[in-house]
Order: sequence, then C-alpha cells, then structure tokens
Amino acid sequence: MASEKPSITRSPAWQALLAHKATIANSSIAAMFAAQPQRFETLSLRLDELLLDYSKNLISSETIMLLMALARERGVGERMHGMFSGQKINTTENRPVLHTALRDGRSVLVDGMDTLPQVVAVREQMRNFSDGVRNGRIAGSGGGQYTDVINIGIGGSHLGPMLAVHALAPYADPTLHMHFASNIDGAALYRLLAPLSPATTLVNVVSKTFTTMETMTNARSVRRWLANSLGEDNAARHFVAVTANVPKATEFGVDAERVFPFWDWVGGRYSLWSAVGLPVALAIGMQRFEKMLAGAAAMDDHFRNAPFEKSMPVILAMLGIWYNNFFGAATHAILPYDDTLALLPAYLQQLDMESSGKRVTHDGAAVDYDTGQVIWGAPGTDAQHSFFQLLHQGTRLIPADFIAACRPHHVIDRHHEILMANFFAQTTALMNGDAATSAHDVFPGNRPTNSILVEKLTPHALGMLLALYEHKVFVQNAIWDTNAFDQPGVELGKRLATRILPELERSDPVTAYDASTNGLINFYKSNCDSRSSNN
Ligand code: F6P
Repeated sequence: MASEKPSITRSPAWQALLAHKATIANSSIAAMFAAQPQRFETLSLRLDELLLDYSKNLISSETIMLLMALARERGVGERMHGMFSGQKINTTENRPVLHTALRDGRSVLVDGMDTLPQVVAVREQMRNFSDGVRNGRIAGSGGGQYTDVINIGIGGSHLGPMLAVHALAPYADPTLHMHFASNIDGAALYRLLAPLSPATTLVNVVSKTFTTMETMTNARSVRRWLANSLGEDNAARHFVAVTANVPKATEFGVDAERVFPFWDWVGGRYSLWSAVGLPVALAIGMQRFEKMLAGAAAMDDHFRNAPFEKSMPVILAMLGIWYNNFFGAATHAILPYDDTLALLPAYLQQLDMESSGKRVTHDGAAVDYDTGQVIWGAPGTDAQHSFFQLLHQGTRLIPADFIAACRPHHVIDRHHEILMANFFAQTTALMNGDAATSAHDVFPGNRPTNSILVEKLTPHALGMLLALYEHKVFVQNAIWDTNAFDQPGVELGKRLATRILPELERSDPVTAYDASTNGLINFYKSNCDSRSSNN
C-alpha cells in the first residue's frame, strides 16, 4: 500500500541542496582550485592502498556539508546498522542482507541461527576442493588432472567471478584455464566447448535458485557434451554446483558433497564473497581469495566506523546523488585505466542498475525523483578513441570515475607510464577544458570526475574496490528509500519467454500478442528454422 509520507524532495536538507545548487551551478571547478590551494588534500581520502580524489567535482565544502546533512536526515547510519546487524532490510522478500557477514568473520543471527559456523564450513569445503583441484588430488574421471574449468551461471552467478578471475589473472595458476558460459546463445557455448577436452574439464554450475533458464539449459548441454565422450556416470563426476537450492542441484545429478551452499541472505549480485567465488579460489588459490574477502572486510569496517565526511562509500554515493538528483545527470561512466578491470563496468552495471532501478519506496509509494542512473563505461585508453569526444564536447553532463593502479603487474617498456599519463591527462582536460579561436575546438571543461588510485591491483585491493561500490549503491538507495536488494523488474520478460517458447515450436500462427510481437514471431516461424541453420 502506498503511504502518504511527504516526499524527500520537500525535506529541509533536500531543499537546502536545491538552493545551494542554484548558487554553485555556474561556478568553475578550476577556479575553485585556484582559490583553495589545499583543495586536493581537503577533498581526497586515503584508505590502505586506495586513494579517492574527489576534488575535481563541482562542489565546495558547503556542498559536502549539505550532502552529509541529507545523508543524516535520511537515516543512512541507522539503515547501515540494520544491514550489518541482520535486520530484514530486503522488505519485499522479507530477508536480511548479509553479504558483509561472508567476509568480516562476525556472527550474525538469522532467524535464530548463527551465520558464522555455516560460512566457515563452506569456506573449508572451498579450500579443500580448490586445493585438491589445483594439486591434482581431485582429478577428472579418467584420472587426469583438470586443465579447464567451465563456470556456468548468469548475472550475479557469473559477472563477479568472471571479473575477479580476469582482474587477478596475474596471480592465477596458468595451467588451469577458466571459462565462463552465461548467455543462452548456443554459438557462445559451441565456441567455448570446441577446443576443450571433456576428460580434463571441470564444470561448475552456479545458480542461487538452480532454476534459471539460461544456466540450466547450458548445464544440460554441457552434461550431454561430457556424457557423449565419457559416458553418463563419468560425466556426473565432472560437475560441482554452487547454490542456495541444494535439493535442485542434487536432483540435477551433482553429488551432494560437491554442492557448495549459500543462503537466502546473500543477494545474487552480492554473492561473489560466498561459494560463488569458487572459480576465483580455483584460479588464484583459497588463501588469495581470502585476501580479497579481507579487502572487502576492511572497506566494511571503514564504512561502519568512519564519519560520513571521511567515508569513501558515503562520499561517492552523495556525489552521485548530487549530479543525478540535482543536475539531472542520467548516466555515470566507469573508466578503468587497467586492462585487468575491463569487466568492471559490466559488473557494476548489474550491481548498480539491478539494485537501483526502482520506482517505488519501501512502502510502495511512487518516487517523484530520479533513482538509478545508467552505468556504462570501458577501459582507457581504448575508450578515448571511441566515446570520449562526447565526454569532452558533448552537451550532456556525464560524471565519471577514473580508476587505475600505480604499479603494473607486467612491465613492458614504457606502456604503464603512457597509460598513466593518459589517465592524468583526461581528468585534467575534462576539468580545465581549453579555450580556442574556433568554436569547434573549444573544450568547455567543468566536467566532474572522481579518480581512484590503487597502489597495485592485489586481491585485497580488488576486494576493497568492489565493496566500495556495493556500499555506494546501498547509501544511494537509503537516500531514495528504495529496496536495493530485490529485482522484480526482470521477472515479466522471463515469464513471457517461457510462454513464447512452446509457441515457437507449434506450426499455427501466433495471435495472442500485440501486432508487432505477433508479426515478429510469425516471421520467425515461417522464415527462420533454427534447427537447420548450419549453413
Ligand atoms: O536476472 C535476474 C537474476 O535473478 C539476477 O539477480 C541473478 O544474479 C541472476 O538472475 C541469476 O540468478 P540465479 O543465480 O538464481 O541463476
């Protein structure tokens, strides 16, 4: 039921920000640097191996004060306490949200059950298994050491582990090759399987629900591929599963001892820290996976204890609110200047857009302000040669996060220095712009950016970075009074696909939908027989 609560846009803190925006909107960030020699020191934060420089934003100390007043007025602190203490803050699904309990070693009670012993037990199961695969004690059905692992999952059961495996590749065992199957498109699976040997391939089916259409279809096809070569019984021995629905995994044929459980209180897009991280443990070893957890725990600790003005997640979140809700910025760019973070934009798309793509408050009232932004991006310097033109001279305001590591994993000539020179040059150019004689050459500047510098992209640093963005998303949803932990918006399309699938296989024309959908389906049925598409 929708409530009659007054909108947050009428609150004193929101109104104060609106008035402040009118006074600052035409200011120049560059001029603020000239007037405030200590601006970098004042508007940057250091935590372990992370540096966040947010000084190149259209803000003054008054802006920060007013944004923090909004955070306090919206009860961000109380909501944070609710999350860490296991309150059922995912109200639509009546669940607590405890991905933080997977990494900080704290006991939290969920319906009277302590989470910690369960977390520790699964970590031991992961350690035993990943060590065994890496040292050859756990081998394929023919006795040969595994050379390849296929992770089958989608969304939160895919993007996190794939990002982490990619980002931490410099730490990985080069003899164990990790592969990721997510999309339902058979072409992707075909390409993936073609060069692999079934006898030395381990398959990890990851699905919180163990019912997701894409994952289960891919899992069945891979089982057939294994069985054709090794026989049904041997094929089963090549499977492991990670799920919150253990009965479904065993029903699929995975040996109960090879099912790694996680729990309802871990959301899919927040699940990298659970057994969903198994591919990471397989690739880099359990000890290093635990360093990633420790990095995330360090960020949790910082989030819980730092005053808002010194809190990286709160600062990033409130800057996002500033541009989104007060300047109308509809998008936010993520620009890693580090190839190992190439998958970060895709990961953050799910984290942020699935969490913040909401249109009603916790009690069902329609919001009258914008919520989630479009998150997008690509690694620099490639992106400089594709979409940066629009960042520099387009008409839209696009705040951006630039992320880089000071020390590279691989030193080749001067590559890293050149990469970093571009990293520093771009945020400077975006802020300062450039006057020119021709109107076409004018860079207006005043384009806001955050710079995040990591000393080196270690497992610990990656854990910190990802937890930073998780908490940013949390704070923004606290401001909007929206539920960051459900995703009802993805269900309608799934239901319709399930209904349409059998209709594609029937010969009669479809009439049940709108004229466009009927027309498209009927064109497909009469012209596109997918079973004869080999040439
Ligand atoms: O697309 C919706 C979604 O439920 C995501 O939230 C989730 O990460 C993904 O599907 C996969 O779900 P599962 O892990 O249950 O297969």
